[in-house]
Amino acid sequence: MRITLSALGLSFLVLTGCSSQKPFETDFIQDNINNAVAQHTLQTNLIEQSGKILNPRTIREDSSIVYIPMDDWCSGFFPGSMWLTYELTGDPKWLPLAEKYTEDLDSVKYLKWHHDVGFMIGCSYLNGYRMADKKEYKDVIVETARSLSTRFRPHAGVIQSWDADKGWQGTRGWKCPVIIDNMMNLELLFEATALSGDSTFYNIAVKHADTTLANHFRADNSCYHVIDYDPETGEVRGKQTAQGYADESIWARGQAWAIYGYTICYRYTHDKKYLDQSERIYDLIFKHKNLPEDLVPYWDYDAPNRPNEPRDASSAACTASALYEMSTYLPEKNYKQTADAILKSLASPAYRAKVGTNGNFILMHSVGSIPHGAEIDVPLNYADYYFLEALMRKRDLEKN
Ligand code: GLY
Repeated sequence: MRITLSALGLSFLVLTGCSSQKPFETDFIQDNINNAVAQHTLQTNLIEQSGKILNPRTIREDSSIVYIPMDDWCSGFFPGSMWLTYELTGDPKWLPLAEKYTEDLDSVKYLKWHHDVGFMIGCSYLNGYRMADKKEYKDVIVETARSLSTRFRPHAGVIQSWDADKGWQGTRGWKCPVIIDNMMNLELLFEATALSGDSTFYNIAVKHADTTLANHFRADNSCYHVIDYDPETGEVRGKQTAQGYADESIWARGQAWAIYGYTICYRYTHDKKYLDQSERIYDLIFKHKNLPEDLVPYWDYDAPNRPNEPRDASSAACTASALYEMSTYLPEKNYKQTADAILKSLASPAYRAKVGTNGNFILMHSVGSIPHGAEIDVPLNYADYYFLEALMRKRDLEKN
């Protein structure tokens, strides 16, 4: 989501921290904006010609585009990419498109059967609130936070991710599964408190972040995907995976959600323990022996058939975006340089698709879930979303 430096009170930090940084990489940024505009123009023209409101997520093996219903966890990313394109270009053409695809998600505010509403409404409505001053979006944001809060289990101190009979349960018999991805939903709760003055949402977010900090991480600072809790006692019943290679392996996107999620927590609380956690995750990722030289990870750091395992561009894009924000808090560290290197890789022909190919998505080579045989080495709308968000953050940093 768009965070302006002044909104974060960070102008001083950034100004003092930028002295040794490279000048504004105008050509790189403009080239990527042009590319995004070209792909999004094709994508939206296709949808507009259908006369429907469609929400593209990925492509099938036959290259046809997969459109998703509004209760899919990925439904916020396409409208979110419209907002980012509007913001990156300043072209008013994108405003009504961003509004239209956002407002199609209105009823998500009442969705209570899974936790992903933070992604869905954060990327759509919250970006509209921030980027186009859409004050009327406030009610949807706060109502969604209310819905998400119904999943808070006070005795365990967590927001339950999946229902016990839904989601990727397998035969694990989970009672209150919490996935690391859930850290990404906290931004909506923090924002809902800021917008409504109701501290309930903030308190739930902090409690969830603290419980996750206590239980989700291993000694090496990598994280599990799923922690199952007893919702009555808070006892940890299991530490497992759904989308990773193995329970004890390091699923790449989980690490991306974690570094981004704790950076968000620091943004709203200024509690250093959250930023420290993001720094520890950074060390885990970027010192990992299995991280490829181009900094785009395999889908799981422990996937056995490296180097012939699929990469996950979505993890790289999300991590890059988090690193740009971390660089504003810690300008003396090399987080921006690392993020720049990731974007360079993602923008290269190895990952960035030619215009008119790849189902009109920007990035190739992401992975949804290999254990489920789903979305292997494909474009994903969230890879594009975080790539554009990272690009915007890079631009804002270099402008300042
Ligand atoms: N939140 C689901 C995923 O990362 O695939």
